[in-house]
Amino acid sequence: PVKRVTAPQILARKGATPIVALTAYTAPLAARVDPHADIILVGDSLGMVVHGLPSTIGVTMEMMILHGQAVVRGSSRAMVVIDMPFGSYEESPQQAFRNAARIMGETGCGAVKLEGGSRMAPTIRFLTERGIPVMGHVGLTPQQTHTFGGFKTQGRETDSWAGHIQDAADVAEAGAFSIVVEGVVEDLADRITEAVVAPTIGIGASVRCDGQILVLDDMLGLTGRVPRFVRRFADLGAQADQAIADYAAAVRDRGFPGDGNVYR
Ligand code: KIV
Ligand code: NA
Repeated sequence: PVKRVTAPQILARKGATPIVALTAYTAPLAARVDPHADIILVGDSLGMVVHGLPSTIGVTMEMMILHGQAVVRGSSRAMVVIDMPFGSYEESPQQAFRNAARIMGETGCGAVKLEGGSRMAPTIRFLTERGIPVMGHVGLTPQQTHTFGGFKTQGRETDSWAGHIQDAADVAEAGAFSIVVEGVVEDLADRITEAVVAPTIGIGASVRCDGQILVLDDMLGLTGRVPRFVRRFADLGAQADQAIADYAAAVRDRGFPGDGNVYR
């Protein structure tokens, strides 16, 4: 079997060729992403995208492990990173280690991701020193949506920049092998990328980040309204609508099954 991309390999990509990351939640789509991506993220966005939850707050360890197992089975070369769900890591470094070890042990993933800046640095250090590679996530952190009061682009006021840069620097210094920078103004994303030793993976950030990530279903056009930072590289939702409508019409007018679809 081909060896998977490792955390040290990603770390070494700082300032080099851009890191390609995408989400996947299922084995068949992970298999499609695998040949093209360095990192496949099993994001807790799966709560909203595939389970119909209103936010990522209700996502459980069991959901992350089940989808994580599917994505690891469906892929062979990309590094699989699994999001730690809300409530599974914030309490203490010990709680985070217990749950991260369970995620790694039960799925075979290469790393976990957790949200938060300076306040999570001791936890990130605790995990990395004990064999669990950690991807950081700063800027707009969706698990804090209730305290933020919604999804808001970060860094619109320059007096907030020092805090955001410190967050990313502390996460990198604690040992994160890469950091997702989400939903920040472009100039702040550039300042963060320049300031930290770990590669930054942008989403709603800047083309000058060390890599980019999108939610697969968003870039394939499978989800509804998407924010400005998403580029739809395909319109599979519209194709699916048409295919389903064609099927329904064919069933109703007995055009399906046809001669080629029956056993004689
Ligand atoms: O959950 C997710 O999909 C994510 C990415 C958008 C970074 O955290
Ligand atoms: Na996430």
